[in-house]
Amino acid sequence: MASPIGVFDSGVGGLSILKALRAELPAEDFVYLADAGFAPYGERGDAFVIDRTRAIVQQLRDEHGIKALVVACNTATAAAIHLVRVEHPDLPLVGVEPALKPAVALSKTGRIGVMATRVTVGSAKLRALHDSLKDQAEFVLQPCDGLADAIQNHDDAQIGALCAQYTRAIGPFGMQPGQIDTLVLGCTHYAFAWDELQALVGPDVRLIETGEPVARQTRRLLEAAGQLRQGAMPGRVTLLTTGEQAALEAAALRWLSL
Ligand code: DGL
Repeated sequence: MASPIGVFDSGVGGLSILKALRAELPAEDFVYLADAGFAPYGERGDAFVIDRTRAIVQQLRDEHGIKALVVACNTATAAAIHLVRVEHPDLPLVGVEPALKPAVALSKTGRIGVMATRVTVGSAKLRALHDSLKDQAEFVLQPCDGLADAIQNHDDAQIGALCAQYTRAIGPFGMQPGQIDTLVLGCTHYAFAWDELQALVGPDVRLIETGEPVARQTRRLLEAAGQLRQGAMPGRVTLLTTGEQAALEAAALRWLSL
């Protein structure tokens, strides 16, 4: 097997990024690691997320010889990507962060909702991004405790209840002045609650996630490093987890037909 691209998240959320990566880079092999045995990340301290991120990057390098890494987790990106960059300067690295900038470009009312984990909302990285844009739009930043966990556990009743609770806290949504017309999904798990969220905020409100831009950025880095794999043979996906293998495989089948 040629060197794969490593992709990791605390659980199934990063599968939403893997889906976009496979569409953009069909000939590449991927190793996806779901750190479900240590999830959720989003309600723990930075030190915990940093330790887990370091251990996973090392494992993916040592055991799988990855040629690039996509940190498909907003929380791990916010808490740890700066350290990974320093510790692995030779490794092409892509992170995900809540899409505030694209939201500013799309919003007509200038009011934007952002759903993310508590660690991401409290991070210096998101604060800096927010500060750089706050003259251009008004953001409502909502930590969504429990939502990633409910999605991870495929608990539909809890997903519905928490989506309703948090959209109520962020809103009102709509296209009128003073209403929120754009909702940023700042945690990769939330892409799997897309339909529930869209139904709650109404059909005109734009939901934004980050799979496609992350996939395009990964392609650019691989091209620049001369590491892009092309060809007609579809690449392979290896699924690894520190949690239950059957649960990850069921999620990959449900959401990616893998
Ligand atoms: N999927 C992760 C993110 O994008 C976080 C989920 C968790 O809390 O573990 O932030």
